Amino acid sequence: MAKKVLILSSSLRPDSNSEQLAREAGRGALEAGNDVEVLSLAGRDIRYCEGCMACHRLLYCPIQDDANDLIKKVQEADAVVFASPIYYYDICGQLKTFLDRTNPLYGQPYRFRDIYLITVSADDAPDTAKRAVSTLDGWIRCFDKAHYAGGFNAGGMSEANAVGNHPQWLQKAYELGKSI
Ligand SMILES: Cc1cc2nc3c(=O)[nH]c(=O)nc-3n(C[C@H](O)[C@H](O)[C@H](O)COP(=O)(O)O)c2cc1C
Repeated sequence: MAKKVLILSSSLRPDSNSEQLAREAGRGALEAGNDVEVLSLAGRDIRYCEGCMACHRLLYCPIQDDANDLIKKVQEADAVVFASPIYYYDICGQLKTFLDRTNPLYGQPYRFRDIYLITVSADDAPDTAKRAVSTLDGWIRCFDKAHYAGGFNAGGMSEANAVGNHPQWLQKAYELGKSI
């Protein structure tokens, strides 16, 4: 059965490697017959969570920026693929900021079950994305019905647009999308 798949890219730089992998994952997910949306945090106004907890009463965040629309898309997706550059051995700050802003979903009904993570790093050591997966897992743990469904780190890419020289990562992203 077709799943509703949200692919959320978080790099802010033009010609981002992780965004290109996100799009490739989107292409695979679409070819698998899913209903797919590929979005980016780039160009969106996503401010920090202020910890006011008003969201637990209101069921939305009172900060008036672009987060609430995206939070709703996360809530209504069956599968979510996050894409992030590795910054200091972790997901990038803008993705963590967005995850914090999903707090209105905590304790509320949500549809998402399968959560994936695609990361990109300059380093190609096998454990480069370990902390990034662990950070995302911290978010997943707060949503009992969701689980980490997989992902990969595309290492060895420092410059923007480097992914064009690494067809194996594009293929891997496509296959990840296709497997959803
Ligand atoms: C603030 C910052 C921190 C970074 N930290 C790391 C790191 O810890 N390990 C690593 O391998 N690459 C690191 N990088 C390199 C990026 O992961 C790399 O350039 C990647 O291709 C960026 O992906 P993007 O094109 O999707 O933005 C860092 C880059 C920046 C700007």
